[in-house]
Amino acid sequence: MINEINFDNIDITSGIIPETEPERQYYYMALCRKMVKDESERLKRPLTFFIATFGCQMNARDSEKLQGILEEIGYVEGKDESADFVIYNTCTVRENANTRVYGRLGHLNSLKKKNPSMKIALCGCMMQEKEVVDKIKSSYRFVDIIFGTHNIYKLAELIFARYNSESMIVNVLKDTELVVEDLPSIRKYPFKSGVNIMFGCNNFCSYCIVPYVRGRERSREPKDIIREIEKLVADGVVEVMLLGQNVNSYGKNLENPISFAELLKEVEKIEGLKRIRFMTPHPKDLSDDVIEVMKHSKKICAHVHLPLQSGSSRLLKIMNRHYTKERYLELAEKIKREIPDVSLTTDIIVGFPGETEEDFEDTLDVVRKAGFDSAYTFIYSKRTGTPAATMDGQVPEDVVKERFNRLLKVVQEGSEKYCKRHEGRVMEVLCEDVNEQDDTMLTGRLSNNILVHFKGDRSLIGKIVNVKLNESKGFYYIGEIAE
Ligand code: SAH
Ligand code: SF4
Ligand code: F3S
Repeated sequence: MINEINFDNIDITSGIIPETEPERQYYYMALCRKMVKDESERLKRPLTFFIATFGCQMNARDSEKLQGILEEIGYVEGKDESADFVIYNTCTVRENANTRVYGRLGHLNSLKKKNPSMKIALCGCMMQEKEVVDKIKSSYRFVDIIFGTHNIYKLAELIFARYNSESMIVNVLKDTELVVEDLPSIRKYPFKSGVNIMFGCNNFCSYCIVPYVRGRERSREPKDIIREIEKLVADGVVEVMLLGQNVNSYGKNLENPISFAELLKEVEKIEGLKRIRFMTPHPKDLSDDVIEVMKHSKKICAHVHLPLQSGSSRLLKIMNRHYTKERYLELAEKIKREIPDVSLTTDIIVGFPGETEEDFEDTLDVVRKAGFDSAYTFIYSKRTGTPAATMDGQVPEDVVKERFNRLLKVVQEGSEKYCKRHEGRVMEVLCEDVNEQDDTMLTGRLSNNILVHFKGDRSLIGKIVNVKLNESKGFYYIGEIAE
C-alpha cells in the first residue's frame, strides 16, 4: 500500500520499466522525485504546484489524487497560479464551465512568460472532447501536458515524458476498463473524504455529456472500498461520501455482483466511522432496499440528493430519465415518510429543447409538492454530441431566463419553509471550518446536510457536537453549542 512505499528505494537505474499498475507509476514517481529534487537544488527553493478544480465531486476527488502524486514526487503546495506546476482539472457539463477555463488560460500564458520553468497541465472532462484538444494544440501551445479522465493515475509518467520531450504531451484515452488502486492521495479536510465507488455512467440522459467524457460504468471491488475507508478512519476521517454518477447501479457488473444497499451495510460496520453520505442516486433505480437500509442505519446521513431535472413526464421521457412526474413524487414521499428528518435536495434543468409553459408548470408543481430543502437550478446548455443538441424547439433565451427566475423564487420559498422545521431543536453537527465572516464562530453540518453557524473554538473542528438550532435563515441555521 502506498503509505508503506519508500520511493527512494525504488531502483531507477536498471532502466527496466514495470508493465503493471500501480508499480509502473511508483517507478515514474521515483524518477520524477529525483528530477524535482535536482531542479529544486538548482533553483535553491522548493518547486510549487497549484491545482484549480472545476465541476463536481468526482473532479474534486480526482484533484486530491493528483495532489497526492505531486506531493509524493516532491512538489509543495503553492498559493495560486504563479506556481511551478499548474493543473486545471476541467469540467464540460455546461458551456460556461468550458468558457471559464479558456478565460483563465490566457492569464496562465502571461505567468509562464515570467517563470520559464513553469509547467501547465490540463486534464478532466473537457479534455475528453476532441475539438477541445485540437483547439488547445493550435491556439494554446504553451500548455505542456493534456490528459483525460481515464488516466489521471499516470501523472508522474506524463510529467517525466514532458521533461524528456521538446513538445506538448497529449495522452487522452477514449475509455478504460481499468481501475487502478493504491495510488497516493491527499485530503482537503482531515476529517472527511470522498470515496469513489464507481466511475463512468451508462445512462445517457439526452442532454448530458458525462457518459461521453467519463466512459462506461465501472464499479470498484467492495473489498477495495472498505479497505480504503478503514485506512481513512484510522487516519482520522469520521465522514465519507460515496461517489458515483448513479450509485444505485453500483456493483451490478462486478464478477461477484453486490447491490448498493449491501455495500452501505458493509460500510456501516466500519468501526470509528460516524457518517456516511452518497452522491448521486438516480430516481429511476433508488430501490426500497436502500431506503430500508437508510431507515435503520445509525451512520447514513438523513439526506437524499435526488435529481429531478424536469417535472414534466413528457420531457422526462425525451430526456431518457426513465421515470414520470408521478413516480418521482411517490418516491419523494416515501423517502420522507420512511427516513425521519430527511432532507431532500435536487437538480433541475430549465429550457430543455421543446419545453413548453405547461412542461415548466409541471416542474414548479413538483417543486411545490416534493418539499426540497434546496435545489441546484441550471439553464439548459447545449452539449455537442448529445442527442438533445440536435433536437428541435431550442427555447429562446428570454423565455428560459424568465422561467429560471420564477423557478428560483419557488425553490427559495420551499427552502425557507422546510429548513424552518428543525428550529429550536438540538441536533448533532460535524464542525467543519472556522466561519468565513466571524472567526469566533464555527461552521458545521447537520446530518441532513444543512449548514449551522455557531460560537465555538477551532479545536472542535472534525468533532461532532450537539448544537441548538436557534434560528433558521433559509438554508442555514444560527445556533449555539448545547451542553
Ligand atoms: N449523475 C448525476 C448528475 C451529474 S451532472 C445525475 O444523474 O443526477 C450534474 C447536474 O448537471 C445534472 O443533475 C443536471 O441537472 C445538470 N446538467 C447536466 N447536463 C446539463 C446540460 N446540458 N445543461 C444544463 N444542466 C445540465
Ligand atoms: Fe448525466 Fe444522466 Fe449520467 Fe447523471 S445519470 S451523469 S445526468 S447521463
Ligand atoms: Fe463536470 Fe465531469 Fe463532473 S463534466 S460535472 S466534472 S463528471
